[in-house]
Amino acid sequence: MCGIIGYIGKEGAKDIILNALLKLEYRGYDSSGISIINEGEIITKKAVGRIKNLKAITEDLPESNMGISHTRWATHGKVTEANAHPHTGCNNQISLVHNGIIENYTQLRKILKEKGHIFKSETDTEVITHLIEEMIKEGNDIETAFIKTLKLLEGAYAIAMINRAEPNKIYAARKSSPLVLGIKEGEYMLASDTLPILPIMSDIIYIHDGDILTITKDSYKIQNLDQVPVNREITKIKADLDEITKGDFPHYMLKEIHEQPKTITNAFSGRIDEENSTAKFGGLNIDEIDLKKIDRVILTGCGTSWHACQYGKYLFEDIARIPSIAEYASEFRYRKPALTENTLLISLSQSGETADTIAAIEEAKKFNVRTIGIVNTIGSTIARMVDGGIYLHAGTEIGVASTKTFNSHLVILYLLSVYLARLRNTITKEKANEMLLELKEIPKKVEEILENETQINNISEKYFNVKNALYLGRGYNFPVALEGALKLKEISYIHAEGYPAAEMKHGPIALIDKDMPTIAIAPMDRLFKKVQSNIEEVQSRGGKVITITTEDIEDHSFDEIIKIPKTSEYLMPILATIPTQLLAYQIAVKRGCDIDKPRNLAKSVTVE
Ligand code: AGP
Repeated sequence: MCGIIGYIGKEGAKDIILNALLKLEYRGYDSSGISIINEGEIITKKAVGRIKNLKAITEDLPESNMGISHTRWATHGKVTEANAHPHTGCNNQISLVHNGIIENYTQLRKILKEKGHIFKSETDTEVITHLIEEMIKEGNDIETAFIKTLKLLEGAYAIAMINRAEPNKIYAARKSSPLVLGIKEGEYMLASDTLPILPIMSDIIYIHDGDILTITKDSYKIQNLDQVPVNREITKIKADLDEITKGDFPHYMLKEIHEQPKTITNAFSGRIDEENSTAKFGGLNIDEIDLKKIDRVILTGCGTSWHACQYGKYLFEDIARIPSIAEYASEFRYRKPALTENTLLISLSQSGETADTIAAIEEAKKFNVRTIGIVNTIGSTIARMVDGGIYLHAGTEIGVASTKTFNSHLVILYLLSVYLARLRNTITKEKANEMLLELKEIPKKVEEILENETQINNISEKYFNVKNALYLGRGYNFPVALEGALKLKEISYIHAEGYPAAEMKHGPIALIDKDMPTIAIAPMDRLFKKVQSNIEEVQSRGGKVITITTEDIEDHSFDEIIKIPKTSEYLMPILATIPTQLLAYQIAVKRGCDIDKPRNLAKSVTVE
């Protein structure tokens, strides 16, 4: 939701901090700010808009060897300079940045105002600075004031704080919002994720909930809220720096769409067990006896990840014959679900930090439900809180609109369905072998589709000015319709809806006219004729239809056609998704939208 940076070490901190902040801009980008300490004074600069606006006003910022910074996705308070972080309280004695939500900020703000504190912003975050000031006023030293303040906060936080009385110290703390510490001889960097750290440091500590850090340029200390020292493992991470550059692509999103032959391969590499005609996973950590007892699977996630859950639901029922449902995490966590210890919760998340998905897992754990997390971000909160995990190995996804990780999720769910089906004898070895062989053909078929980009570009020329669009798919391709609609919405700001094709007759058909195109996913499979009827229903009402179908299509009367290679019904969604990603991308480019940082969005929604 937001990105925070803390740095202490070498001189030249200003540039180090701002360059690091740029790598977090995908997390939130409506305003930003930086504080450094120079000659015993805290100097803070803040700007609305992108980080380049902040850079433009920090030229005269004096040098320092430490500081903090923040890039914001507004939760409380409008997008203004006053609401941008850092926040410095009443007398500029401390400066603080925060990612998360302080749920009891209204009560705290009231108490602090009664004690004479003057607030400069509408944010929840600012109460933290005034609370620390109040604790200092009561005679506590800075560290005690910081810890006592944390004990009063309800909600989620990743905080970095500096104070002018200790110009060589940074305090930090984490509760439910991500925070990592990079370590190098004589310098340390705090960040919301590893991206800003990896270009300069390879030793990482994933900070846990409840950890409180005190960092100087020569040392760091981690303790819990009871001031008991805590040891955290140092993980060495090899930075793949070209992962975090656009290469020859104009946008990260297009690069990530084109990475899919590789990332799909990464998702199944080492996970196909040909000898036993099944799939294998290193970190499932749930023994097969318990897996055989599973009588219900709940797949949960948000946004694109929830669309992948929908796909998983079809597969688990069809192949592994396990009753399965796909639930929005934000709904699951509050609906008092009837769970038993034979329920399996599978959470999907690219970031591994989505607050609603984390809360859904916490809810399920209350019922001793076994939990599996399928995530992309190594060491993320979800990866560390589930019983068993499967990493996507898709590499960093910078584009706010998820693309490669959606298909990586589909590959993992496909392999997991084969594994569970073989465990439960609901498919034969021959069927499993056929499914695994077909999967290995997919990267090449994705390459073929990506070579067809020009045709999709031509189609986007005709439709980039529409106001609405309808996406239709049946069966395994219904999730593709949902995902295709979300992509268009997210990056082109055109309103789009994904629907089960047959459902179009029960209402949405009223919307059809010549100005509202329909994108139909209609491969030549057992449901083709059904979808073809829906296409004709649309066209007979003057609606234009862009049909994504397979290359063996015979004569047709579709307005536009995008042909893709054939594959099995189960794997078709992976192929059919590619044209929907490219179509959304091309339309958004023609509309002059900000592809990698769409308005109002953030890459990781770490608040409710
Ligand atoms: C997808 O393009 C969006 N960026 C968004 O819907 C995203 O999928 C959702 O916020 C869930 O994120 P996660 O996969 O990191 O949990």
